[in-house]
Formats: sequence, C-alpha cells, structure tokens
Amino acid sequence: MIQAVIFDLDGVLVDTAKYHFICWQRLASSLGISIDEEFNQELKGVSRMDSLDMILALGGIEKTDEEKLELADTKNKWYLRCLNELSSEDLLEGVEETLLELKSREFKIGLGSASQSGEYVIKKLGIYDLFDAVVDGNGFQKSKPDPEVFLTGAQKLGVAPAECAVLEDAPSGILAAIAGGMLAIGVGSEPLPGEDHHLNDLSNPLSLIALL
Ligand code: BG6
Ligand code: MG
Repeated sequence: MIQAVIFDLDGVLVDTAKYHFICWQRLASSLGISIDEEFNQELKGVSRMDSLDMILALGGIEKTDEEKLELADTKNKWYLRCLNELSSEDLLEGVEETLLELKSREFKIGLGSASQSGEYVIKKLGIYDLFDAVVDGNGFQKSKPDPEVFLTGAQKLGVAPAECAVLEDAPSGILAAIAGGMLAIGVGSEPLPGEDHHLNDLSNPLSLIALL
C-alpha cells in the first residue's frame, strides 16, 4: 500500500532543469568542452560536484580540488541568478492540483532533490507548506542513482520504503527509486529505463492517483 509520494524537483515540479543545462553548458564552453542535450540527460539528478567531474572527464581535463570548487561555485552563481524571478507561475502544469489531491487523500508528500537549492526553490514556488518532509542536496551524501536521498525522505516521512512512490524525470533518479525498493514513476516525454509506470506530466492528478 502506497502511503507517501516523494517528488524529484528539477524537471518534475518546475523546469529548472533547463537552467542547470544552460549554466553547465556555459561553464563547459569556457573550458573548451561542448555538451549537448544527450549528455545533459546523464547530468540530470546528479549532484553539482559529480556533474562537474563528468564534464571535466568528457573534456579530458584535470583540475585540483580547489579549482573544482571555484568552477562549481561559478556555475552555481549563474544558476542562482536564473532562480531570481522564480514564482508560483513557474510550477509545471497540474503540480499544485496534484499536491492538493494527494493531501486530501492523506498521502504524505516528500521532496527528494539533489539540488542544494531544493528547499529554496519550493519556497519560491509557494508550495513548501504542502510538503511533510524535504530532503535536498544539503541533507544527504551520495548522488542518485544511490537511493540515499529517497531513503532519507521515507525515514523523515515515517513510512517504509515499499510504501513510497517516487516521481522522477531522470534515469539516475529512477535507478535510485528502484534501488530503494520504491515504486518508480517516470515523468516526461520519454519512458525511462526500469520505471514501473510512466506519466507524460502531472496535468491530470487522477492519473497519478490511479497508479498508487
Ligand atoms: C538536481 C539536478 O536536481 O540537482 C542536477 O537535476 C543538478 O542537474 C543537481 O546538478 C544539483 O543542483 P545544485 O543546485 O545543488 O547545484
Ligand atoms: Mg529531475
């Protein structure tokens, strides 16, 4: 019996994934590395430092830990600038209705995001109060596909992993949900490897409810 739904943030609740991509692309290009949409798929759900490592590996470039911190910080400054104007108008279609429908049916609601700005973003979107537990990139160590983010979320929500459904737009997130023993629901235009169910978006809350 599913008792709780844990949402990924970027690409599921809001289209901040495009800002991450633009900022990584800008940073990569400053290093003479070109990244495309296909490579970006692999970066989705992956932590800031791990993303940087993947980009540097792609370009065959080595940097010291100090240089890496500086590069990651530069990317994050650009990203935070993109978030300045974020508001409830940026919620993807049906997100608020979905959260309210889940609440009215007494499902617990969690956030499971790799982003260190996760809590900040849901506050800007005006949906923070609808969450029973928030786990963002400040609350766990191991990047998706490790299940730590979702297992921490389940623990905070007080439910067993098998009682959780995870909504994810990234291949690494689906793998993390599966590794955590949770129901993995892919969201987006393309099916994701290993997912248990798929939704194109959250525009119809009852389509999600039917899967739980
Ligand atoms: C994930 C995104 O949610 O958060 C990744 O899908 C991003 O693209 C990661 O790199 C880390 O985000 P932040 O805000 O901590 O740099
Ligand atoms: Mg995502």
